Amino acid sequence: MLTEEFWAQVAVPSKEEERWRSKDEGALFKRWRRTPAPVDSTPNTATSTPSAQPSELLKFLAINALELSAPASDALLKSRSSEWFQLAGHPGSLAPAGPGTVWKRRAAGDHPSHNPERDTYEALAACPHMRGVIPRYYRELEYGGERFIELQDLLHGFRDPHVMDIKMGTRTFLEDEVSNAHARGDLYEKMVRLDPNAPTETEHLARAVTKLRYMQFREERSSSAEQGFRIEAVKLPGQPPLTDLQNVREPHQLAATVARFLGKDERARRAIAARLREIRDQFERSDFFKTHEIVGSSIFIIYDDERVGAWLIDFAKTRRIPGGAYVNHRAPWQQGNHEEGFLYGLDRLIHTIETAKLPAQGEEAATEPDVLR
Ligand SMILES: Nc1ncnc2c1ncn2[C@@H]1O[C@H](COP(=O)(O)OP(=O)(O)OP(=O)(O)O)[C@@H](O)[C@H]1O
Ligand SMILES: [Mg+2]
Repeated sequence: MLTEEFWAQVAVPSKEEERWRSKDEGALFKRWRRTPAPVDSTPNTATSTPSAQPSELLKFLAINALELSAPASDALLKSRSSEWFQLAGHPGSLAPAGPGTVWKRRAAGDHPSHNPERDTYEALAACPHMRGVIPRYYRELEYGGERFIELQDLLHGFRDPHVMDIKMGTRTFLEDEVSNAHARGDLYEKMVRLDPNAPTETEHLARAVTKLRYMQFREERSSSAEQGFRIEAVKLPGQPPLTDLQNVREPHQLAATVARFLGKDERARRAIAARLREIRDQFERSDFFKTHEIVGSSIFIIYDDERVGAWLIDFAKTRRIPGGAYVNHRAPWQQGNHEEGFLYGLDRLIHTIETAKLPAQGEEAATEPDVLR
């Protein structure tokens, strides 16, 4: 199981917080304080658009939040009272906007006629079955020459919650990204930095590896390749986010992380498992998912003392399968079949949530490897 040292990092906020603040990419853990908003007890059921016309001030706040690299000004902090944080993903790709909404920046390289994330949100929001498993989608907007989509802020209404971002699938890259068979020296260097013994003899001689080889190596180091999901980041109440989870690879390590996330809250465990089964049912029935590969998406789980929620997020790498072909999301990937293993991973994630137990006293240190070293 995860070591004492590992969990000590979760348990000692000041130490961990310092580590975060000292990083250049401190933007990963930004705090924004916002005006208190009424608790929304019926997530995803409202059909109104709370900020179809956000005020200039809200636009200002959102844009400034996106660009913030230093702590927010005192005035800004005073005007906001609840915390908002981005758990995983590209630093600064999201920011809170109007009350209860966030703006997500359009992925680099996308343009008005090729914006798969916007198109996916629009398609799923238009489907009565699927709209309940994603954050509410409001609109696409342009501000300061950049494009954003406005989504329901899933953290809104939760009080200092437990939060987990789980990246789904056995394959987390697009086929296009790895179609180049040219072996690269920079990727070889990166691989050696992570594990000097990873390259084969031939690769060592060439001092180069292909992008496909490098991406698969990364997936095999995490739980993605074997389990079809990996825990990108976790946040426990009162603690800063923990994102050093690349080495949480084995089923018992995943179980320990999930058990720690759930604590003794059996109600949360049951509600999350039921919600994930519901997401799986809707996913399996949906025509959209039969005809699209869903690469690099996450399941985002949040709970506090009163509420529990789980949603699908991040569709930047969702693509329609060419040639009218279908995918079942469980078959192993072969170049050209577009399978990404989303449901393969969801089956295992549900099982992990249902069965994860905290290790008995003393068991942890005696039997398990240190996953952080
Ligand atoms: N609707 C939302 N409400 C609240 N927080 C969100 C929402 N969507 C995303 N987040 C936060 O932002 C993080 C990253 O989100 P997401 O995966 O969509 O972005 P990304 O990985 O940076 O994007 P991409 O892969 O498209 O470049 C999540 O882990 C979560 O903390
Ligand atoms: Mg993401």
